[in-house]
Amino acid sequence: MRAVVIDNAEVSVAERPDPLLGDEQILVEVRAAGLNGADLLQAQGLYAPPPGVPVDLPGLEYAGEVVAVGSAVSRFQVGARVMGLVAGAAQAELVTVHERLAMPVPAGMRWVEAGGFPEAFATAYDALFVQAGLGAGERLLVQGAAGGVGLAAVQLGVAAGARVTATVRDQLLRPALEEIGADAVAPDAYGARAPFDVVVELVGGSNIAGDLAALANGGRICVIGIASGARVDLDLRQLMERRAVVRGSTLRARSIEEKALLARELEARVVPMVASGRVRVPVFAVFPLEAANEAYRRFAAGGKLGKIVLTVSTADVED
Ligand SMILES: NC(=O)c1ccc[n+]([C@@H]2O[C@H](COP(=O)([O-])OP(=O)(O)OC[C@H]3O[C@@H](n4cnc5c(N)ncnc54)[C@H](OP(=O)(O)O)[C@@H]3O)[C@@H](O)[C@H]2O)c1
Repeated sequence: MRAVVIDNAEVSVAERPDPLLGDEQILVEVRAAGLNGADLLQAQGLYAPPPGVPVDLPGLEYAGEVVAVGSAVSRFQVGARVMGLVAGAAQAELVTVHERLAMPVPAGMRWVEAGGFPEAFATAYDALFVQAGLGAGERLLVQGAAGGVGLAAVQLGVAAGARVTATVRDQLLRPALEEIGADAVAPDAYGARAPFDVVVELVGGSNIAGDLAALANGGRICVIGIASGARVDLDLRQLMERRAVVRGSTLRARSIEEKALLARELEARVVPMVASGRVRVPVFAVFPLEAANEAYRRFAAGGKLGKIVLTVSTADVED
């Protein structure tokens, strides 16, 4: 199969052996696969995948068609349209995945949307509702809201009845956030909207002191991204006074059981909103697999609104 491969901190497309199919796995012919910050870090040797996952094959999410099933598979048949998370190697023509980690792609959802859905929406859903317990009527701050996870978090927060403030660095992108129901502000301007019950922190350590200062009593901060630093000086007096909770989360190294649980929640609560058009997968740009290097460079340049997605066949770019 052709796959995106990492060599000397650069990505290119090369031939690799087809993946082997396990009894409980499905073999998926990938049609689209989203890019994530973790892929860029992996390419730079800064984020090793979990044990057993090739270090030189990036890609955490895919959408495609089932072309073979293992002997113990019961959820899917050949021909099914599926999408989901994997711990690596999704940016390739073929991927194998445990059947319980795959979600059906609803009718009407384009391949490029399905390929950009799993990581952003699983991360946002988990942060908002599983980690931070966001409820209707609560005040939510999404820090770093113009990327894939941020746009997913804003939409899910609005759909859940929260009042959403979103920080967006590029002022030209703020109207798009307003359109989906957020109060979009510059990164230094959210203080006037405080206090917040929940903060989803996608930027990192440089924001934590401000997040805590802007928190309501009983507020929860969920740390998802650490691009601006992983170490902080935390004011524990403020933490106590606000009865605050600071927690963090990653998805990649979770067990099959934990990932399957999240996949079922997404199927039940988020995929129907995508199918009905209430929530949209924000696809910013689509590149063919062969142009993976260009796609990675575009991701690294920043200033995008949503996801960058690779398509395996050029026929799928508009599909
Ligand atoms: N823990 C997990 O399980 C998990 C899962 C997925 C993603 N992540 C991490 O979460 C973060 C967000 O993911 P993503 O896929 O949404 O990435 P993304 O698409 O690259 O978006 C990141 C967004 O943050 C913005 N940003 C950066 N610095 C900012 C600042 N100081 N103020 C306001 N906005 C700022 C960026 O704006 P510019 O374009 O202007 O730079 C961009 O819009 C990344 O660090 C990613 O690695 C973690």
